[in-house]
Parts: sequence; structure tokens; C-alpha cells
Amino acid sequence: MALFQSSTRIIPDVANVPRHIAIIMDGNGRWAKKRFLPRVAGHQRGVETVREVVRACHEMGVEYLTLFAFSSENWRRPADEVSFLMQLFLKMLEREVSKLHNNNIRLKIIGDRSRFDDTLNRYIEDAEALTANNTNLTLTVAANYGGRWDIMQAMRAMVRDRPELAGAFEEADLAPYLSMSYAPEPDLFIRTGGEQRISNFLLWQLAYAELYFTDTLWPAFDADALRAAIASYQARERRFGRTSEQVQAGGQAQAASQDERHA
Ligand code: IPE
Ligand code: IPE
Ligand code: MG
Repeated sequence: MALFQSSTRIIPDVANVPRHIAIIMDGNGRWAKKRFLPRVAGHQRGVETVREVVRACHEMGVEYLTLFAFSSENWRRPADEVSFLMQLFLKMLEREVSKLHNNNIRLKIIGDRSRFDDTLNRYIEDAEALTANNTNLTLTVAANYGGRWDIMQAMRAMVRDRPELAGAFEEADLAPYLSMSYAPEPDLFIRTGGEQRISNFLLWQLAYAELYFTDTLWPAFDADALRAAIASYQARERRFGRTSEQVQAGGQAQAASQDERHA
């Protein structure tokens, strides 16, 4: 299993281009409403933005892109919208997976799959299996995902596998059970659509992500908007708890850090 640096246990290496970008794709409904279209037309149009952003990340050398497609709370929406979104997800898997595979992109789906029907679950499993060994971008789609769900499922799985730990477990014991243990923590978090909240996305993993909010609605977001977010990221100083002076003196090497290796 690959080893990744936990931002709270070791100071991660910081690259000029974020290694991992996590996005809350928000504003589809409002985009449609502004055009006197049904909300679902915004979701449909949002798929095109997904294609453009995946391509742009790939070209810019981003290694991990994680997209929030459906939250554990989105079931509260009207049944016809929920059902449209599930259909759209299925169609995306049907149509796009071979293209992703041809581009050497690995696809991962995170979230609670127990509420999906068998057909959808079969498509998810097949898509992950087909692309598992691809080495370009890792594209993760968060579907029926909630940050609290993630922490809870990780706890349950850890306690089941390692009952001997009882109450004496560390962060590093829990980390391999979290949904995104295969990826470094997000460097850059983007939320489109103007709201400034996390909405139960990657609560654990966003500990030290740089947050970027834009009023642009998701269907109107594009490669240039992504470049603007990355430029904002590049102008920031990531201190991870240290002082600015330490960072400028090359604090990465000096900082006392604990090794977070786990099997
Ligand atoms: C985000 O757009 C897509 C999903 C949550 C599935 P919204 O549907 O939330 O769009 P707004 O926020 O109502 O404009
Ligand atoms: C967050 O957007 C979830 C996704 C984009 C999938 P929401 O539109 O559901 O978030 P809230 O309800 O405004 O917080
Ligand atoms: Mg919304």
C-alpha cells in the first residue's frame, strides 16, 4: 500500500501544481433557473464541465481530482431529481469509462453504495476494475458520500479488523480505513456556486487544504476558472502550524516530525 503523509503528523511536501484537487460542484440548479430551464438541465450541462475539468487537470499534471457528485444529504431532494441524478451517474459510467480508460485515467467511487441498485453497483465495480492499474490522473467521484459517514465506516472497519486495539488506537491506525487512503490529502478545495461551506464533504481529509470559493456556477466553470483557482493556491503560504519565518527558512527539513508509516 502506498504511504501518504498525514498533514497533522508530518509536514507534507508542497508542489507548485496541487497534487490533489477536491471540488464541490455546486450551482447546477441556479444555472438552469436563470435560463428558465428545469433544474436537471443544469445537472446535464454540468457533465460537460466535468469533462473539461478532467482534461485540464490531466494536462496540468494534477495527480488526483475528487468531485462531489451526490452527498449523503442529497436524498432529501425531490424524488424525481434524485432519480434523474442516479440515471445520469449510470449514463456517465456507461458512456465515459472507456474514454477514461483510453486516457489511462483511474476511476474510483467513494461513498455508501448500499443505497444504490444492483445495476449501478455492477457498473461501479466494473469501472473500477477496468481502470485500476491506470497511472495518469486518479479521478474520484464521491457519490452518496458524507464526511461523517466516512469517519464512522472507518472506525467500524478498524474495530472489526483489529479488536485488540480497543481504545488505544492512533490516527495512523484509522487512516488506512478512510475512503481516500489511496490518495494524499487534498491540497486545494474548490467550491463553485457561491456558498462558503463544506456540506459534509471530506471532513477528515481537508484538514490543511487551501479553500477556494467562487461565485461561478458549476455549468459555467471551465479550464480558465480552474487556472484562476490554481493561481490563487500558488500565491498562498502553507504553514501547517509553523511560522512564516520557519517556512521561509526551509522548515520542511528541520521540523521535528513523526513517521506515519503504516502497512
Ligand atoms: C450541485 O448543484 C449538484 C448536486 C448537489 C447534485 P445543485 O443542484 O445543488 O445546484 P443549486 O445549488 O441548487 O444551484
Ligand atoms: C453539496 O451541494 C453536494 C454536492 C455538490 C454534491 P449542496 O447543494 O447539496 O449543498 P448545500 O445543501 O447547499 O449545503
Ligand atoms: Mg447546491
